[in-house]
Amino acid sequence: MCGITGYIGYREAYPIIINGLKRLEYRGYDSAGVMLYDDGDVHLAKTKGKVSSLEEKVEQEIPNTGFVGVGHTRWATHGVPNDVNSHPHISKSGNLVIVHNGIIENYDSIKQELKSRGYTFHSDTDTEVLVNLIEEMKSQEGVKLGQAVQMALNQVIGAYAIAVFDKTKPNELVVARLGSPIAIGVGKDHEEFFIASDASPFIEFTKDAIYLEDEEMAIVKIGREVRVRKIKDDSLIDPNIQKLQLNLEQIEKGGYDHFMLKEIHEQPRAITDTFRGRLLVNEAIIKLSGLENNMKRFLNAERIIVVACGTSWHAGLVGEYIFEEFARIPVEVEYASEFRYRNPVISDKDIVIAISQSGETADTLAAIKLARSKGAFVFGICNVVGSSIARENDTGAYTHAGPEIGVASTKAFTTQITVLTLMALRLARAKGTMTSEDYRVHLRQLELIPDKVTEVLKTDEHVRNIASIYKDASNCLYLGRGFNFPVALEGALKLKEISYIHAEGYPAAEMKHGPIALIDKDMPVIVIATSKGHYEKVVSNIQEIKSRNGQIIAVVTEGDVTVKEIADHVIEIPETEEALSPLLTTIPLQLLSYYIAVMRGCNVDQPRNLAKSVTVE
Ligand code: F6R
Repeated sequence: MCGITGYIGYREAYPIIINGLKRLEYRGYDSAGVMLYDDGDVHLAKTKGKVSSLEEKVEQEIPNTGFVGVGHTRWATHGVPNDVNSHPHISKSGNLVIVHNGIIENYDSIKQELKSRGYTFHSDTDTEVLVNLIEEMKSQEGVKLGQAVQMALNQVIGAYAIAVFDKTKPNELVVARLGSPIAIGVGKDHEEFFIASDASPFIEFTKDAIYLEDEEMAIVKIGREVRVRKIKDDSLIDPNIQKLQLNLEQIEKGGYDHFMLKEIHEQPRAITDTFRGRLLVNEAIIKLSGLENNMKRFLNAERIIVVACGTSWHAGLVGEYIFEEFARIPVEVEYASEFRYRNPVISDKDIVIAISQSGETADTLAAIKLARSKGAFVFGICNVVGSSIARENDTGAYTHAGPEIGVASTKAFTTQITVLTLMALRLARAKGTMTSEDYRVHLRQLELIPDKVTEVLKTDEHVRNIASIYKDASNCLYLGRGFNFPVALEGALKLKEISYIHAEGYPAAEMKHGPIALIDKDMPVIVIATSKGHYEKVVSNIQEIKSRNGQIIAVVTEGDVTVKEIADHVIEIPETEEALSPLLTTIPLQLLSYYIAVMRGCNVDQPRNLAKSVTVE
C-alpha cells in the first residue's frame, strides 16, 4: 500500500506530483521518490523518509522542471526502506521508469530468469524486477510499450497498481491495476492527465476521473482519449468517466493541527450524513436500500458473520451485541485474516457483513471472495465510494463519513456502528423482535446522537488535562462491559497505535482472571461505566482496581455519583440507550489517545510502521 502520482500535460509536473504525494502520504510514508522528464533527460530523486525529505532532496539534486513525471510514497514490503529500494525504479537501459503499489509474488523466479539474460539488480524490490521484465518484453521485435506492459503483467502473480514511463515515448504513460486502486484524472480536451492512487491529488484540476477495474490497463497519451484494455485478452473497454464529488476542503486540515483531531470533531456531521435519507424518525422508518431489497435473505439468515480488520473489526463486535440484542440473529465476528485461511463453515444461509473504511484491505477482500464462493450473501459497509470491497459485495451501504486521512480510524468507527445500528433496528422491526415503543425510543435516541457527540466533544479541554497527567505511562488498561467492551478494545488500539504506549482492552469482569496482576500505582485504568451498562458490576471492578492502587479514569453518564467518589478522574457523557452508548463513550477515548500522542511528540497522523489501508497480506 503505497501512493502513486503522475502527470503528463502542459503544466509543470513537479508541484502537482509533490503535492499529490503529500495527500497520499497516509498510504505509506517510509520513503518517497519522484521522476521528472525534461528535454530528453530522466531525473530521479529518491529518499528514505517522508515526502518533506524528498522535497529537500529534489531541491538539492535535480532540476524540478518538465511536463511529465511520476511520484511514489512507500510502505515497504520487499526490501527495507532506504534510498535504493524507494520508487521510482528504472530499467537496465535507463529508458523505462515505474512506480508500483502492491506485491509481485513470483518476483524471485522472474528475477533469476532475467539475471540469466544479463540483467543486474540494485535494489531488493519486486518492482525493479517488474520494470526489467517490461523492458525484456519490449526488446522483442515490434513490441510497443503498452504491449510490453501487458505481456509482462500476464506473467506476474500478485497485486499491482503501476504507472510506467518510457523515455522514448515521453508523451504517454501506461497504467494498470490488479488489486490496488488507481485513478486517471482526465484534463480538458485530453491535453493533460493525472494519475493517482485516489483522486485527492488532482481534484483542483479536474472532476473527471476514470477508476481502472482489476485486470485493466490504460494508455494515456496527450491529445487522445484514454484507451482502456483488458490485460488478459487485450479487448478494448469503453472508459467509464465519473464525475468526482470530492472537494478540496474535505481533504484539508481545516484549521486543526492534525487530520485526526479534525476527524474526531467531524463526527457529529459524519453521523448525520450516515443517517441522511435513511433515518426517518417521524415516520418511524429506516431505509437502507441494500437491506430492503434483500430483506427476505436477511429474514431467513441463520447467522450473520462479520469480517473485518482492526478498528472495523471492533465496530463489528459492537454490531454483534446490537444485532443479537435487537434482531435476535446469531452473529460471529471474525478477523478477516483468520477467516480467509481457516476453511470456515459457511453456507448460503449465512450473511456475511464485511466492514472496511478504505474498502481496500486485502484480507477483508479475500474473506469476501471466499464467502461468496461458498454461497454466502455479502453485505459491505464501506466508506470509500467505488473501492474494491464496495464493488466486490452483493450489496451494501456506504458510511458517508467523508475522506478519513488520519491513519488512526475515528469517524469511520462511529459511522460504521451507525450503519450497523440502523440495520439491526430495521431487522428488529421486520422480525418483530422489538416492541414498536422500544423501536421508536431507539430511533428518537439515535437521532439525538450527533448533538450528544457535540456535547462530548466539549470535554476536549478536560481530557487534555487528564492526558497531561498520564502521558508518560508505559502501560494502560481499558475496561468495558457489554456494548462497551469493544469500545475498550478500540480505546486501547487508538492509544497504542499513535502514542506507542502499550495498552490492552478487556471485558471488565475478565480483569480478575489475569490482568489484575498488572495493577499498581503506575497503571492507569480507563473504565467505561455508563449508568445502564451493568453499572454495579463495573463499580465493583473499579473498587478492585482502587484497592490495588490503580489510577482510574472513568467514562460515566452525566449525573453519576458513585464512580465519581472512587475514580481519580471522570469524563461525563450524556445519557442515552445503552446500545447506542458506544457512539458517545468512544469519543473521549479518541481524544485521550490523541492528546497523549501529541504530548509525547508522536506523529499522530502518520504513526510509525502503519499505513492507512493495508492492501497487502
Ligand atoms: C486503526 C486502523 C486500522 C484499520 C484496519 C482496517 O485505527 O485504522 O486498524 O481499521 O486496517 O482498515 P479498513 O477499515 O480500511 O479495512
